[in-house]
Amino acid sequence: MTGCPVHAEFDPLGEAYLRDPLAERPEAPVFYAPSLDYYVVTRYADVERVFLDPETFSAANAQLPLIALAPEVGRTLLDGGHRPQPSMVSLDPPAHGRLRKPAARAFTPRRVREMEPRIRATAAELLDAVDATREFDLIEALAFPLPMRIMFSFMGVPEADWPRLKAWCGSRASLAWGRPTPDEALHHAQQMVLYRRYLRDLVAAKADDRGDDFAGALLEIHDEDPEALTHEEIASILFSLSFAGHETTNNLIGNCVRRLLEVPERWARLVAEPDLIPDAVDEILRFDPSVPVWRRVTTRPVTLGGVDLPEGAKLFLWLAAAGRDADIFPEPDTFDPERDNARRTLAFGRGIHFCIGSALGRLEATLALEELTRRHPALRLVDGQEIPFHPNISFRGPQALWVRS
Ligand code: HEM
Repeated sequence: MTGCPVHAEFDPLGEAYLRDPLAERPEAPVFYAPSLDYYVVTRYADVERVFLDPETFSAANAQLPLIALAPEVGRTLLDGGHRPQPSMVSLDPPAHGRLRKPAARAFTPRRVREMEPRIRATAAELLDAVDATREFDLIEALAFPLPMRIMFSFMGVPEADWPRLKAWCGSRASLAWGRPTPDEALHHAQQMVLYRRYLRDLVAAKADDRGDDFAGALLEIHDEDPEALTHEEIASILFSLSFAGHETTNNLIGNCVRRLLEVPERWARLVAEPDLIPDAVDEILRFDPSVPVWRRVTTRPVTLGGVDLPEGAKLFLWLAAAGRDADIFPEPDTFDPERDNARRTLAFGRGIHFCIGSALGRLEATLALEELTRRHPALRLVDGQEIPFHPNISFRGPQALWVRS
Protein backbone atom coordinates (compact mmCIF):
# COMPACT_ATOMS: atom_id res chain seq x y z
CA MET A 1 0.00 0.00 0.00
CA THR A 2 1.46 3.35 -1.01
CA GLY A 3 0.71 6.07 1.51
CA CYS A 4 -1.29 9.04 0.41
CA PRO A 5 -0.26 12.55 1.49
CA VAL A 6 -2.92 14.32 3.52
CA HIS A 7 -3.53 18.08 3.41
CA ALA A 8 -5.78 18.87 6.35
CA GLU A 9 -5.74 22.61 5.62
CA PHE A 10 -6.91 22.26 2.00
CA ASP A 11 -10.42 23.73 1.90
CA PRO A 12 -11.67 24.76 -1.54
CA LEU A 13 -14.67 26.49 0.00
CA GLY A 14 -12.54 28.54 2.37
CA GLU A 15 -11.94 32.25 1.87
CA ALA A 16 -8.26 32.08 0.97
CA TYR A 17 -8.86 29.45 -1.72
CA LEU A 18 -11.85 31.29 -3.18
CA ARG A 19 -9.74 34.43 -3.50
CA ASP A 20 -6.83 32.67 -5.26
CA PRO A 21 -7.22 28.89 -5.65
CA LEU A 22 -3.77 28.21 -7.08
CA ALA A 23 -1.78 30.47 -4.74
CA GLU A 24 -0.72 27.62 -2.45
CA ARG A 25 -1.18 24.43 -4.39
CA PRO A 26 0.28 21.31 -2.82
CA GLU A 27 3.01 19.63 -4.87
CA ALA A 28 1.76 16.05 -4.56
CA PRO A 29 0.22 14.47 -7.69
CA VAL A 30 -2.57 13.04 -5.51
CA PHE A 31 -3.44 14.00 -1.93
CA TYR A 32 -6.32 13.41 0.43
CA ALA A 33 -8.41 16.39 1.61
CA PRO A 34 -10.27 15.55 4.84
CA SER A 35 -12.26 18.81 4.58
CA LEU A 36 -14.21 17.18 1.74
CA ASP A 37 -13.34 13.47 2.01
CA TYR A 38 -11.99 13.67 -1.54
CA TYR A 39 -8.68 12.71 -3.16
CA VAL A 40 -7.33 15.68 -5.10
CA VAL A 41 -5.68 14.88 -8.47
CA THR A 42 -3.39 17.66 -9.67
CA ARG A 43 -1.37 16.42 -12.67
CA TYR A 44 -2.45 16.67 -16.30
CA ALA A 45 -1.56 13.07 -17.20
CA ASP A 46 -3.46 11.62 -14.23
CA VAL A 47 -6.55 13.75 -14.83
CA GLU A 48 -6.52 12.79 -18.50
CA ARG A 49 -6.16 9.11 -17.62
CA VAL A 50 -9.19 9.33 -15.33
CA PHE A 51 -11.32 10.97 -18.03
CA LEU A 52 -10.32 8.33 -20.57
CA ASP A 53 -11.20 5.30 -18.40
CA PRO A 54 -14.91 5.49 -17.50
CA GLU A 55 -14.95 1.83 -16.40
CA THR A 56 -12.53 2.47 -13.56
CA PHE A 57 -13.54 6.07 -12.90
CA SER A 58 -17.31 6.50 -12.81
CA ALA A 59 -18.97 9.88 -13.35
CA ALA A 60 -21.69 8.97 -10.83
CA ASN A 61 -20.66 11.68 -8.35
CA ALA A 62 -20.16 14.46 -10.94
CA GLN A 63 -23.07 16.46 -9.63
CA LEU A 64 -23.93 14.85 -6.34
CA PRO A 65 -24.03 17.24 -3.41
CA LEU A 66 -20.48 17.80 -2.27
CA ILE A 67 -21.50 17.38 1.34
CA ALA A 68 -24.14 14.92 2.59
CA LEU A 69 -27.64 16.39 2.58
CA ALA A 70 -29.94 16.18 5.61
CA PRO A 71 -32.50 13.35 5.14
CA GLU A 72 -35.30 15.92 4.94
CA VAL A 73 -33.63 17.60 1.96
CA GLY A 74 -33.18 14.27 0.20
CA ARG A 75 -36.85 13.46 0.77
CA THR A 76 -37.96 16.81 -0.68
CA LEU A 77 -36.01 16.04 -3.84
CA LEU A 78 -37.27 12.48 -4.20
CA ASP A 79 -40.90 13.29 -3.39
CA GLY A 80 -40.76 16.00 -6.04
CA GLY A 81 -39.50 13.62 -8.70
CA HIS A 82 -35.88 14.80 -8.68
CA ARG A 83 -33.93 11.57 -8.78
CA PRO A 84 -30.33 11.71 -7.58
CA GLN A 85 -28.92 10.33 -10.86
CA PRO A 86 -30.71 12.56 -13.25
CA SER A 87 -28.58 13.67 -16.13
CA MET A 88 -26.05 13.01 -18.84
CA VAL A 89 -22.90 14.25 -17.20
CA SER A 90 -23.19 11.83 -14.27
CA LEU A 91 -24.26 8.72 -16.17
CA ASP A 92 -21.88 5.94 -17.18
CA PRO A 93 -22.20 3.79 -20.32
CA PRO A 94 -24.55 2.51 -21.60
CA ALA A 95 -27.10 4.85 -19.97
CA HIS A 96 -24.95 7.86 -20.85
CA GLY A 97 -25.17 7.16 -24.60
CA ARG A 98 -28.97 7.16 -24.56
CA LEU A 99 -28.90 10.87 -23.72
CA ARG A 100 -25.59 11.93 -25.25
CA LYS A 101 -26.31 10.60 -28.77
CA PRO A 102 -29.59 12.43 -29.36
CA ALA A 103 -28.28 15.58 -27.63
CA ALA A 104 -25.19 15.60 -29.86
CA ARG A 105 -27.36 14.94 -32.91
CA ALA A 106 -29.67 17.85 -32.14
CA PHE A 107 -26.76 20.12 -31.25
CA THR A 108 -25.54 20.32 -34.81
CA PRO A 109 -22.63 22.44 -36.05
CA ARG A 110 -25.23 24.16 -38.26
CA ARG A 111 -27.16 25.29 -35.21
CA VAL A 112 -23.98 26.62 -33.58
CA ARG A 113 -22.87 28.39 -36.79
CA GLU A 114 -26.28 29.94 -37.21
CA MET A 115 -26.01 31.42 -33.76
CA GLU A 116 -23.02 33.61 -34.65
CA PRO A 117 -24.97 36.63 -35.95
CA ARG A 118 -27.37 36.42 -33.03
CA ILE A 119 -24.52 36.23 -30.50
CA ARG A 120 -22.80 39.24 -32.05
CA ALA A 121 -26.03 41.23 -32.25
CA THR A 122 -26.90 40.38 -28.65
CA ALA A 123 -23.44 41.43 -27.45
CA ALA A 124 -23.76 44.69 -29.40
CA GLU A 125 -27.22 45.36 -28.01
CA LEU A 126 -26.07 44.75 -24.44
CA LEU A 127 -23.04 46.99 -24.86
CA ASP A 128 -25.10 49.74 -26.51
CA ALA A 129 -27.20 49.85 -23.36
CA VAL A 130 -24.16 50.59 -21.17
CA ASP A 131 -23.60 54.14 -19.96
CA ALA A 132 -19.85 54.20 -20.56
CA THR A 133 -19.39 57.61 -19.00
CA ARG A 134 -19.49 55.82 -15.64
CA GLU A 135 -18.04 52.70 -14.08
CA PHE A 136 -20.06 49.61 -14.94
CA ASP A 137 -20.24 45.98 -13.85
CA LEU A 138 -19.11 43.92 -16.81
CA ILE A 139 -20.80 40.78 -15.47
CA GLU A 140 -24.20 42.37 -15.14
CA ALA A 141 -23.86 44.24 -18.42
CA LEU A 142 -22.50 41.47 -20.66
CA ALA A 143 -21.00 38.26 -19.25
CA PHE A 144 -24.17 37.13 -17.49
CA PRO A 145 -26.99 38.13 -19.86
CA LEU A 146 -25.24 37.13 -23.12
CA PRO A 147 -25.00 33.35 -22.58
CA MET A 148 -28.30 33.30 -20.73
CA ARG A 149 -30.15 34.83 -23.67
CA ILE A 150 -28.31 32.69 -26.21
CA MET A 151 -28.78 29.38 -24.38
CA PHE A 152 -32.36 29.80 -23.27
CA SER A 153 -33.52 30.98 -26.69
CA PHE A 154 -31.54 28.16 -28.35
CA MET A 155 -33.34 25.67 -26.11
CA GLY A 156 -36.72 27.19 -26.88
CA VAL A 157 -37.54 28.60 -23.42
CA PRO A 158 -40.03 31.51 -23.65
CA GLU A 159 -38.39 34.80 -22.68
CA ALA A 160 -40.85 35.49 -19.85
CA ASP A 161 -39.51 32.40 -18.05
CA TRP A 162 -35.79 33.24 -18.24
CA PRO A 163 -35.53 34.90 -14.79
CA ARG A 164 -37.11 31.86 -13.10
CA LEU A 165 -34.87 29.43 -14.91
CA LYS A 166 -31.84 31.51 -14.02
CA ALA A 167 -32.76 31.53 -10.32
CA TRP A 168 -33.18 27.75 -10.37
CA CYS A 169 -29.71 27.35 -11.90
CA GLY A 170 -28.35 29.30 -8.91
CA SER A 171 -30.03 26.87 -6.50
CA ARG A 172 -28.57 23.99 -8.44
CA ALA A 173 -25.01 25.35 -8.15
CA SER A 174 -25.30 25.78 -4.40
CA LEU A 175 -26.89 22.41 -3.78
CA ALA A 176 -24.55 20.27 -5.84
CA TRP A 177 -21.24 22.12 -5.68
CA GLY A 178 -21.40 24.28 -2.57
CA ARG A 179 -21.79 23.99 1.19
CA PRO A 180 -25.29 25.35 1.98
CA THR A 181 -26.70 25.42 5.51
CA PRO A 182 -29.53 22.91 6.13
CA ASP A 183 -32.15 25.66 5.72
CA GLU A 184 -30.60 26.89 2.49
CA ALA A 185 -30.35 23.31 1.22
CA LEU A 186 -34.04 22.74 1.87
CA HIS A 187 -34.94 25.93 0.02
CA HIS A 188 -32.73 24.94 -2.93
CA ALA A 189 -34.24 21.43 -2.97
CA GLN A 190 -37.72 22.90 -3.22
CA GLN A 191 -36.53 25.08 -6.10
CA MET A 192 -35.05 22.06 -7.87
CA VAL A 193 -38.41 20.34 -7.77
CA LEU A 194 -40.02 23.36 -9.45
CA TYR A 195 -37.18 23.48 -11.99
CA ARG A 196 -37.66 19.83 -13.01
CA ARG A 197 -41.43 20.22 -13.15
CA TYR A 198 -41.07 23.29 -15.33
CA LEU A 199 -38.89 21.43 -17.85
CA ARG A 200 -41.30 18.49 -18.01
CA ASP A 201 -44.17 20.89 -18.66
CA LEU A 202 -42.09 22.70 -21.27
CA VAL A 203 -41.48 19.46 -23.19
CA ALA A 204 -45.20 18.61 -23.05
CA ALA A 205 -46.12 22.09 -24.32
CA LYS A 206 -43.49 21.98 -27.08
CA ALA A 207 -44.68 18.57 -28.22
CA ASP A 208 -47.88 20.27 -29.40
CA ASP A 209 -46.32 23.52 -30.53
CA ARG A 210 -42.93 22.94 -32.15
CA GLY A 211 -40.36 25.65 -32.76
CA ASP A 212 -37.13 25.56 -34.77
CA ASP A 213 -35.12 25.12 -31.60
CA PHE A 214 -33.19 22.49 -29.69
CA ALA A 215 -36.28 21.19 -27.85
CA GLY A 216 -38.03 20.86 -31.22
CA ALA A 217 -35.06 18.97 -32.67
CA LEU A 218 -35.11 16.51 -29.76
CA LEU A 219 -38.86 16.02 -30.16
CA GLU A 220 -38.28 15.13 -33.81
CA ILE A 221 -35.84 12.44 -32.70
CA HIS A 222 -38.50 11.21 -30.26
CA ASP A 223 -41.03 11.01 -33.10
CA GLU A 224 -38.73 8.69 -35.06
CA ASP A 225 -38.64 6.22 -32.17
CA PRO A 226 -40.45 7.19 -28.96
CA GLU A 227 -38.79 4.34 -27.04
CA ALA A 228 -35.28 5.51 -27.92
CA LEU A 229 -35.81 8.98 -26.47
CA THR A 230 -38.69 9.61 -24.07
CA HIS A 231 -40.15 12.97 -23.09
CA GLU A 232 -38.68 12.46 -19.62
CA GLU A 233 -35.25 12.05 -21.20
CA ILE A 234 -35.73 15.19 -23.29
CA ALA A 235 -36.51 17.10 -20.09
CA SER A 236 -33.34 15.64 -18.61
CA ILE A 237 -31.24 16.84 -21.57
CA LEU A 238 -32.75 20.31 -21.22
CA PHE A 239 -31.88 20.15 -17.53
CA SER A 240 -28.25 19.51 -18.55
CA LEU A 241 -28.04 22.28 -21.10
CA SER A 242 -29.90 24.95 -19.17
CA PHE A 243 -27.13 24.96 -16.60
CA ALA A 244 -24.06 23.75 -18.49
CA GLY A 245 -24.65 26.15 -21.34
CA HIS A 246 -24.94 29.24 -19.27
CA GLU A 247 -23.03 29.47 -16.00
CA THR A 248 -19.85 28.10 -17.56
CA THR A 249 -19.83 30.71 -20.31
CA ASN A 250 -20.77 33.60 -18.05
CA ASN A 251 -17.74 32.69 -15.96
CA LEU A 252 -15.49 32.21 -18.99
CA ILE A 253 -16.27 35.71 -20.28
CA GLY A 254 -15.76 37.16 -16.79
CA ASN A 255 -12.42 35.37 -16.39
CA CYS A 256 -11.29 36.52 -19.84
CA VAL A 257 -11.99 40.18 -19.17
CA ARG A 258 -10.53 40.07 -15.67
CA ARG A 259 -7.30 38.33 -16.71
CA LEU A 260 -6.81 40.55 -19.76
CA LEU A 261 -7.40 43.81 -17.89
CA GLU A 262 -5.35 42.93 -14.83
CA VAL A 263 -2.23 43.41 -16.99
CA PRO A 264 -3.13 46.37 -19.25
CA GLU A 265 -0.59 45.30 -21.92
CA ARG A 266 -2.62 42.10 -22.47
CA TRP A 267 -5.72 44.10 -23.26
CA ALA A 268 -3.82 46.59 -25.46
CA ARG A 269 -2.35 43.72 -27.44
CA LEU A 270 -5.78 42.27 -28.26
CA VAL A 271 -7.10 45.71 -29.15
CA ALA A 272 -4.22 46.04 -31.63
CA GLU A 273 -4.37 42.41 -32.85
CA PRO A 274 -7.97 41.16 -32.60
CA ASP A 275 -7.04 38.07 -34.62
CA LEU A 276 -5.39 36.82 -31.43
CA ILE A 277 -8.69 36.77 -29.54
CA PRO A 278 -9.68 33.12 -30.19
CA ASP A 279 -6.22 31.96 -29.02
CA ALA A 280 -6.43 34.24 -25.99
CA VAL A 281 -9.73 32.57 -25.05
CA ASP A 282 -8.04 29.15 -25.20
CA GLU A 283 -5.17 30.42 -23.08
CA ILE A 284 -7.63 31.73 -20.47
CA LEU A 285 -9.29 28.30 -20.42
CA ARG A 286 -5.89 26.84 -19.53
CA PHE A 287 -4.78 29.63 -17.19
CA ASP A 288 -8.02 30.25 -15.30
CA PRO A 289 -10.71 27.73 -16.37
CA SER A 290 -14.34 28.48 -15.61
CA VAL A 291 -14.83 24.83 -14.56
CA PRO A 292 -11.74 24.44 -12.34
CA VAL A 293 -12.76 21.12 -10.77
CA TRP A 294 -14.67 18.07 -11.94
CA ARG A 295 -15.42 14.82 -10.11
CA ARG A 296 -15.21 11.05 -10.50
CA VAL A 297 -15.39 8.01 -8.18
CA THR A 298 -13.38 4.78 -8.48
CA THR A 299 -15.22 1.54 -9.28
CA ARG A 300 -12.28 -0.67 -8.18
CA PRO A 301 -8.98 -0.34 -6.32
CA VAL A 302 -6.47 1.45 -8.56
CA THR A 303 -3.10 3.19 -8.34
CA LEU A 304 -3.10 6.80 -9.50
CA GLY A 305 -0.22 9.26 -9.28
CA GLY A 306 1.67 6.72 -7.18
CA VAL A 307 -1.13 6.42 -4.63
CA ASP A 308 -3.20 3.28 -4.03
CA LEU A 309 -6.85 4.23 -4.03
CA PRO A 310 -9.64 1.98 -2.71
CA GLU A 311 -12.86 1.27 -4.57
CA GLY A 312 -15.29 4.13 -3.97
CA ALA A 313 -12.56 6.78 -3.65
CA LYS A 314 -14.01 10.17 -4.53
CA LEU A 315 -11.77 12.16 -6.86
CA PHE A 316 -11.50 15.93 -7.09
CA LEU A 317 -10.01 16.42 -10.55
CA TRP A 318 -8.28 19.75 -10.25
CA LEU A 319 -8.49 20.96 -13.86
CA ALA A 320 -7.11 24.37 -12.93
CA ALA A 321 -3.94 22.80 -11.49
CA ALA A 322 -3.62 20.46 -14.52
CA GLY A 323 -3.61 23.60 -16.70
CA ARG A 324 -0.51 24.74 -14.83
CA ASP A 325 1.35 21.43 -15.21
CA ALA A 326 4.86 22.34 -16.42
CA ASP A 327 5.28 18.90 -18.05
CA ILE A 328 2.68 19.93 -20.62
CA PHE A 329 2.71 23.74 -20.57
CA PRO A 330 6.21 25.28 -20.22
CA GLU A 331 6.26 28.30 -17.89
CA PRO A 332 2.72 27.48 -16.88
CA ASP A 333 2.15 30.57 -14.73
CA THR A 334 2.83 32.88 -17.67
CA PHE A 335 -0.18 34.01 -19.67
CA ASP A 336 0.73 33.75 -23.35
CA PRO A 337 -1.97 34.06 -26.03
CA GLU A 338 0.53 32.65 -28.52
CA ARG A 339 1.21 29.46 -26.59
CA ASP A 340 1.05 26.78 -29.26
CA ASN A 341 -0.62 24.04 -27.21
CA ALA A 342 -3.19 25.90 -25.06
CA ARG A 343 -5.88 23.88 -26.84
CA ARG A 344 -4.67 20.79 -25.00
CA THR A 345 -6.42 22.20 -21.94
CA LEU A 346 -8.60 19.76 -20.03
CA ALA A 347 -11.04 22.59 -19.29
CA PHE A 348 -13.78 20.85 -21.31
CA GLY A 349 -12.99 17.35 -20.01
CA ARG A 350 -11.91 14.52 -22.31
CA GLY A 351 -13.36 11.27 -23.61
CA ILE A 352 -17.01 10.24 -23.63
CA HIS A 353 -18.27 13.21 -21.61
CA PHE A 354 -16.25 15.82 -23.52
CA CYS A 355 -18.23 19.05 -23.37
CA ILE A 356 -20.93 19.22 -26.04
CA GLY A 357 -20.89 23.01 -25.98
CA SER A 358 -17.15 23.71 -26.23
CA ALA A 359 -17.43 25.32 -29.68
CA LEU A 360 -20.38 27.45 -28.59
CA GLY A 361 -18.70 28.54 -25.35
CA ARG A 362 -15.53 29.53 -27.20
CA LEU A 363 -17.53 31.37 -29.86
CA GLU A 364 -19.52 33.37 -27.32
CA ALA A 365 -16.38 34.41 -25.44
CA THR A 366 -14.59 35.32 -28.70
CA LEU A 367 -17.44 37.45 -30.02
CA ALA A 368 -17.93 39.12 -26.64
CA LEU A 369 -14.24 40.09 -26.57
CA GLU A 370 -14.28 41.25 -30.19
CA GLU A 371 -17.18 43.60 -29.50
CA LEU A 372 -15.72 44.77 -26.22
CA THR A 373 -12.18 45.50 -27.45
CA ARG A 374 -13.56 47.33 -30.50
CA ARG A 375 -15.96 49.53 -28.53
CA HIS A 376 -13.85 50.05 -25.42
CA PRO A 377 -10.17 49.99 -26.39
CA ALA A 378 -9.22 51.93 -23.25
CA LEU A 379 -11.19 49.70 -20.87
CA ARG A 380 -9.61 49.22 -17.44
CA LEU A 381 -10.43 47.69 -14.08
CA VAL A 382 -11.74 49.99 -11.37
CA ASP A 383 -8.96 50.21 -8.76
CA GLY A 384 -9.19 48.64 -5.33
CA GLN A 385 -12.14 46.32 -5.91
CA GLU A 386 -12.37 42.98 -4.14
CA ILE A 387 -13.67 40.55 -6.79
CA PRO A 388 -16.36 38.26 -5.32
CA PHE A 389 -16.58 34.53 -6.20
CA HIS A 390 -19.49 32.17 -5.54
CA PRO A 391 -18.59 29.58 -2.87
CA ASN A 392 -18.72 26.36 -4.89
CA ILE A 393 -15.97 24.13 -6.23
CA SER A 394 -16.85 23.77 -9.91
CA PHE A 395 -18.04 27.05 -11.37
CA ARG A 396 -15.64 29.93 -11.03
CA GLY A 397 -15.79 33.45 -12.39
CA PRO A 398 -16.16 36.96 -11.00
CA GLN A 399 -19.64 37.63 -9.61
CA ALA A 400 -19.04 41.31 -10.28
CA LEU A 401 -16.26 43.05 -12.22
CA TRP A 402 -16.20 46.83 -12.18
CA VAL A 403 -14.63 48.47 -15.22
CA ARG A 404 -14.43 51.92 -16.79
CA SER A 405 -13.82 53.04 -20.32
C1 HEM B 1 -17.65 27.78 -22.00
C2 HEM B 1 -17.23 27.08 -21.07
C3 HEM B 1 -17.55 25.65 -20.77
C4 HEM B 1 -16.76 24.87 -20.01
C5 HEM B 1 -15.44 25.27 -19.35
C6 HEM B 1 -17.38 23.55 -19.95
C7 HEM B 1 -16.85 22.49 -19.27
C8 HEM B 1 -17.38 21.22 -19.24
C9 HEM B 1 -16.83 20.11 -18.51
C10 HEM B 1 -15.56 20.15 -17.67
C11 HEM B 1 -17.62 19.03 -18.73
C12 HEM B 1 -17.44 17.61 -18.14
C13 HEM B 1 -16.61 16.80 -19.08
C14 HEM B 1 -16.30 15.40 -18.56
O1 HEM B 1 -16.93 14.91 -17.59
O2 HEM B 1 -15.41 14.77 -19.17
C15 HEM B 1 -18.70 19.47 -19.59
C16 HEM B 1 -19.72 18.65 -20.01
C17 HEM B 1 -20.82 19.13 -20.66
N1 HEM B 1 -21.01 20.41 -21.17
FE1 HEM B 1 -19.75 21.97 -21.00
N2 HEM B 1 -18.54 23.58 -20.67
C18 HEM B 1 -18.70 24.83 -21.20
C19 HEM B 1 -19.75 25.26 -22.00
C20 HEM B 1 -20.82 24.50 -22.33
C21 HEM B 1 -21.93 24.93 -23.17
C22 HEM B 1 -22.03 26.31 -23.82
C23 HEM B 1 -22.80 23.88 -23.23
C24 HEM B 1 -24.12 23.75 -23.95
C25 HEM B 1 -24.42 24.24 -24.99
C26 HEM B 1 -22.26 22.79 -22.48
C27 HEM B 1 -22.85 21.55 -22.34
C28 HEM B 1 -22.26 20.46 -21.73
C29 HEM B 1 -22.91 19.16 -21.60
C30 HEM B 1 -24.32 18.80 -22.09
C31 HEM B 1 -22.01 18.32 -20.95
C32 HEM B 1 -22.20 16.86 -20.57
C33 HEM B 1 -21.66 15.98 -21.67
C34 HEM B 1 -21.72 14.50 -21.33
O3 HEM B 1 -21.87 14.12 -20.17
O4 HEM B 1 -21.62 13.68 -22.26
N3 HEM B 1 -21.05 23.20 -21.94
N4 HEM B 1 -18.53 20.80 -19.90
